[in-house]
Amino acid sequence: MKSSKVRLDKLLSSLGYCSRKEVASLIREGIITHTLNLPLKNDTKASHNEILFDSEPLDPPMGMVILMHKPVGYVCSHDDGEGRLVYDLLPERWRLRDPKISTVGRLDKETSGLLLLTDDGALLHRLTSPKHKVPKVYEATLDRALSGNEAEIFASGTLMLNGEKTPCLPAKLTVIDPTHARLEIVEGRYHQVRRMFAAVGNHVTALHRCSFGTLTLGDLEAGEYRLIDAQSLTD
Ligand code: URA
Repeated sequence: MKSSKVRLDKLLSSLGYCSRKEVASLIREGIITHTLNLPLKNDTKASHNEILFDSEPLDPPMGMVILMHKPVGYVCSHDDGEGRLVYDLLPERWRLRDPKISTVGRLDKETSGLLLLTDDGALLHRLTSPKHKVPKVYEATLDRALSGNEAEIFASGTLMLNGEKTPCLPAKLTVIDPTHARLEIVEGRYHQVRRMFAAVGNHVTALHRCSFGTLTLGDLEAGEYRLIDAQSLTD
């Protein structure tokens, strides 16, 4: 990515390194430096790849996409009062970035699996917009054995969820064994997978998202994440 030049104090503060005011003293202390040792001031126009902090290249610029393996027990919220947050799994400084990093949709606290996060508002909007119908695959563990008609009901496009006015779009169920199934949905309604199974008289005891569009977790362990190329989401 070709990075444009911005004021140094704006660049460093937007990446969460320090406040704009602190930049001048960090330059004096030799913490913020130029890769070619050029002199710096708080209002120097610099591009992202010219600057070092503590002799290290800066964190990725705006336009980050993070693919995380969300563990059970973490909440997709910015509100500290809600318990352990998925943002706690990222470097602390990333929580101070502006624009801020947000989850692309949400997974429930008790759901594990593939979660995307980004600071790119337009991308976030595109990936969560109902228009785009990104397929998402979940593996569900069920309390009771499947009765055999669920695949047909889910595929019908007529399943109504409690309290909703429009039926769920057709979804694809693949039975793994009587109490385990894979479900592909293209919407992102609140607690959708759990509510779809509830609507056919079952109960989800564990839920894991294995894919989002063409993306999968690969060998990421629960709690781990990696940066991905935003381009891989729009191809
Ligand atoms: N459906 C659910 O019920 N929960 C999730 O976290 C995601 C989809």
